[in-house]
Amino acid sequence: MDGPTYAVYSIPTIPGQHHIVQYKDLRLQALQIDPQSFSSTYERELSMTYDQWRARLQSRDKATIVATASFQSSERLSWQHKWVGMITVLGPKILKQFGFTVPRSVQGGSHYAFMGVWIHPSHRGKGLGRRLISAGMDWTRADDETGPPEERRTLLIQVMKDNKPAISLYSSMGFQSIGLDEGNESDSTTWMGMRLDH
Ligand SMILES: CC(C)(COP(=O)(O)OP(=O)(O)OC[C@H]1O[C@@H](n2cnc3c(N)ncnc32)[C@H](O)[C@@H]1OP(=O)(O)O)[C@@H](O)C(=O)NCCC(=O)NCCS
Repeated sequence: MDGPTYAVYSIPTIPGQHHIVQYKDLRLQALQIDPQSFSSTYERELSMTYDQWRARLQSRDKATIVATASFQSSERLSWQHKWVGMITVLGPKILKQFGFTVPRSVQGGSHYAFMGVWIHPSHRGKGLGRRLISAGMDWTRADDETGPPEERRTLLIQVMKDNKPAISLYSSMGFQSIGLDEGNESDSTTWMGMRLDH
């Protein structure tokens, strides 16, 4: 059987029921497989209601973009589609709502968004992380809420210092370590960011 065909798909801000169900499944899988990659836990999100999952996708100052894998059946009669990765990009309004602190060097004068990315282990190393981050960069450039259209924006990520695959991916795309100041760096994590031109 041939390998899957991959695509990148942005979940609409008025999601259908199938979006909500698949998003919940993917997010819970990610929390179970790589708990250290998120500022949340599997147990906490397992108890979320359908309406809470829907509300997550409905926010206007946020993008949820998924990677899909399409497999053809062995008889080549039908296709199966699976969600295998995602990026979430949060704009400044929603970050403020969550009480999220970004490095002071970024707060001063520049507009910013924050991202988190995850790919299912069976589909890593196929360029999906890179594709999702490019899509997240496009959203950040275009997002009205992130800042006036003429101003440049910074896309940020907080990463565990020992997460070599992630740091290598971000560096290869042009992300740089952020000049850190007091209180922004923990023993285990560091920040990276990229200024985006239009
Ligand atoms: C980090 C992660 C998103 C990378 O996704 P991916 O789809 O495997 O990455 P890609 O295939 O797009 O790789 C792009 C580049 O990243 C780097 N990279 C990816 N995996 C790597 C690895 N295991 N070791 C070293 N570099 C790696 C390489 O530079 C690669 O470019 P190349 O293929 O030209 O060598 C994925 O490993 C993941 O989901 N990890 C668990 C969750 C996580 O850590 N998220 C980040 C939290 S900050």
